[in-house]
Amino acid sequence: MTATDDTGGGNRTAEAPFDWLDAAADRRRSAGLVRTLRPRPADEELLNLAGNDYLGLVRHPRVTRAAADAALRWGGGATGSRLVTGSTELHAELEAELAAFCGAEAALVFSSGYTANLAALTALVDPDPAAGTVIVSDALNHASLIDGCRLARARVARVAHRSPDAVRAELAARPERRALLVTDSVFSVDGDAAPLAAHAAACRDHGAALLVDDAHGLGVLGPGGSGALAAAGLAGAPDVVATVTLSKSLGSQGGAVLGPRRVIEHLVQAARTFIFDTGLAPASVGAALGALRLLREEPERAERARQVARELSSRLAAAGLDVSVPDAAVVSVRVHSPEAALAWAAACRERGLLVGCFRPPSVPDRWSRLRLTARADLTDDQIARAVRLITGTAPAR
Ligand SMILES: Cc1ncc(COP(=O)(O)O)c(C=O)c1O
Repeated sequence: MTATDDTGGGNRTAEAPFDWLDAAADRRRSAGLVRTLRPRPADEELLNLAGNDYLGLVRHPRVTRAAADAALRWGGGATGSRLVTGSTELHAELEAELAAFCGAEAALVFSSGYTANLAALTALVDPDPAAGTVIVSDALNHASLIDGCRLARARVARVAHRSPDAVRAELAARPERRALLVTDSVFSVDGDAAPLAAHAAACRDHGAALLVDDAHGLGVLGPGGSGALAAAGLAGAPDVVATVTLSKSLGSQGGAVLGPRRVIEHLVQAARTFIFDTGLAPASVGAALGALRLLREEPERAERARQVARELSSRLAAAGLDVSVPDAAVVSVRVHSPEAALAWAAACRERGLLVGCFRPPSVPDRWSRLRLTARADLTDDQIARAVRLITGTAPAR
């Protein structure tokens, strides 16, 4: 529906406000990039290598019981933002136990890992224009970190992926007094790990702070799953801050920032996604606490998740597939086109195996990928079946 607008708007066409969406949808369709929501039934029988439930805890009776108990005791929602009515004693318990588990001085729980990242990035930039802050950001950081950089009102220097040398060069050349290096601990597409010890050394040499998104490291890396900072000897460091999500290894929902107490206190005062967001629902707090306590009792789950990932990767590589070498629990298999990736994932699904399918723009390069996530609770038979199904349905090159 278009007609020429001759009522004073120049030669602007009078199309309906959302007509342009149809053209955008056509472009997506012809590029093979349409995304589809697929509500799953509760009793789905598929072997799931697509979720982020790395420790196999999302349906563990102790985790679901803890969620139910918390909802029964505290209600279905937090009732308000954290500074008004949305902080319960359960939130405080989770913050204390999470900080202790990861070796941080303090922790602050958010409604998601996404909002935790926005909070850390925006609040850790010095608003004093006389000081100035540069954020040095790994080129393949997660979207939530990129959005945090955009919101932070600081200069952002994007540096080569996993390159302490590039970080050093950027930090040394900066005109700003303050600097914050931000990186994923484990990158979500290929499962490769950041060189955190070398990054931390670069930061220290140049008076910069380090912010690490440990979404894919918590529960998988470090002693007993205590995270990537612990694995790198950086837990409790005075110049390092971590963010985590509660929605992967801990089988719940929500996020947290962990770090020096003065950082956490500053976030309470200054982080808009903390102040203006309803607190995390009690059921999610309860589930995360239940999972954390279970992990403390069963630390071997972390090593098992890493072992399953290595097993998947080496068997798929042996079958000739172009597969990543995992540093944590994520394994990816490159595919030559988005259409082929989609067809491959669909063929796996038809045979009872759920795998992730990453296509542009969610990948760092032109390669689409099948994304597989290891789970600590996968049996050897399930691993063998997954490998059989993936190799048996692989597209011809
Ligand atoms: C690296 C990374 N950071 C942050 C997030 C966001 O966490 P949440 O899902 O809890 O918002 C995700 C994914 O979900 C992630 O993969």
